[in-house]
Amino acid sequence: MVKHPKPIVEIVSTGRYLPERVLTNFDLEKMVETSDEWIRERTGIRERRIARPDEGAAEMAAQASRLAMEKAGIEPGEIDFLVLSTATPDRWLPSTACDLQALLGADNAMAFDVAAACSGWLYGLSIAEGFLAAGRGEIALVVATEKMSSIVDWEDRATCVLFGDGAGAAILKKARGDSGIISSFHKSDGMLGNLLYRPAGGCAVPMSQEVLDNKDYLLKMAGREVFKNAVRSMAEASDQALQRAGMTGEDIDLLIPHQANMRIISATAKYAGIPMDKVYVNVDRFGNMSSSAVPVALDEAIEHGLVGPGSQILTVAFGAGFTWSAMTFRL
Ligand code: ACO
Repeated sequence: MVKHPKPIVEIVSTGRYLPERVLTNFDLEKMVETSDEWIRERTGIRERRIARPDEGAAEMAAQASRLAMEKAGIEPGEIDFLVLSTATPDRWLPSTACDLQALLGADNAMAFDVAAACSGWLYGLSIAEGFLAAGRGEIALVVATEKMSSIVDWEDRATCVLFGDGAGAAILKKARGDSGIISSFHKSDGMLGNLLYRPAGGCAVPMSQEVLDNKDYLLKMAGREVFKNAVRSMAEASDQALQRAGMTGEDIDLLIPHQANMRIISATAKYAGIPMDKVYVNVDRFGNMSSSAVPVALDEAIEHGLVGPGSQILTVAFGAGFTWSAMTFRL
């Protein structure tokens, strides 16, 4: 194994978008049989953002992307590669990436969606890294956008308290020095797909009155099983990404874990050997934004000065599929 592999691709800028509307635990108390105390104790979440009905996944992605492009000084026409992660596409056809391309006017890019649930942004980073490393283009936009409020059953207290909406984006270029992606680890296990899924609405079980009546087009989750797998898999991914970078937790300035649940975050930090004061947490303010969680957290951490040029970051995610990923990079 190569020690500290030299980065080939770097993250040059980031951006985020959070919808204005805040839904607090106290608001949820009026909607389902739950309490602020239960939600905070089990998940660490206090509030989350909810997109307007007319605000789609592509629109949120555009807001985050424009900020990332502005910071990098990049015009839409310069983007060669646009990969968008979402579990909540605006429509089945065309891809939300193509809708985003149109909104941005990124007319020289190839654009497509990646479906890897909460790990999708990290999968997207690796795909973009490969494209740039192969010399197929100069500039990539990697976006995550999630309108989880559109697939949540607002009468199911076990799931509706967990999720929120938002988008995050990054511009990637070929590395010029020591900054950039150092290592990555990605894995999936389709055998466990039915622990976190939407049973119907695709071509296997198309939309019908029965599907609507049973709410089978909405998200279903075996919470405890997901929890156990998330902790185990995020530990494995962190360990593998650190090993492949020739690093230990001590080399990391900030851990940016997927923001699903405070207890999963604490367990992940413990396994990785990283103290909690080096762990970025915003699940209390935004809930679980699926694949948008990591890029939103990264953008906030940079903006708040927690990390800057030279900082070494470990990021790790887990989601439906199951899919799991971790990456190390230097800003
Ligand atoms: N308010 C009050 N009570 C609730 C609520 C609620 N919102 N939801 C469930 N309960 C009740 C249950 O009905 C159950 O009651 P019972 O004992 O009378 O049957 C009790 O609380 C315990 O329920 P559990 O599901 O066993 O609670 P648990 O401690 O496992 O916590 C939770 C549930 C928070 C969902 C946890 O399992 C979890 O976080 N799982 C991971 C889920 C996740 O993050 N999924 C996101 C996608 S994957 C990812 O992003 C990592």
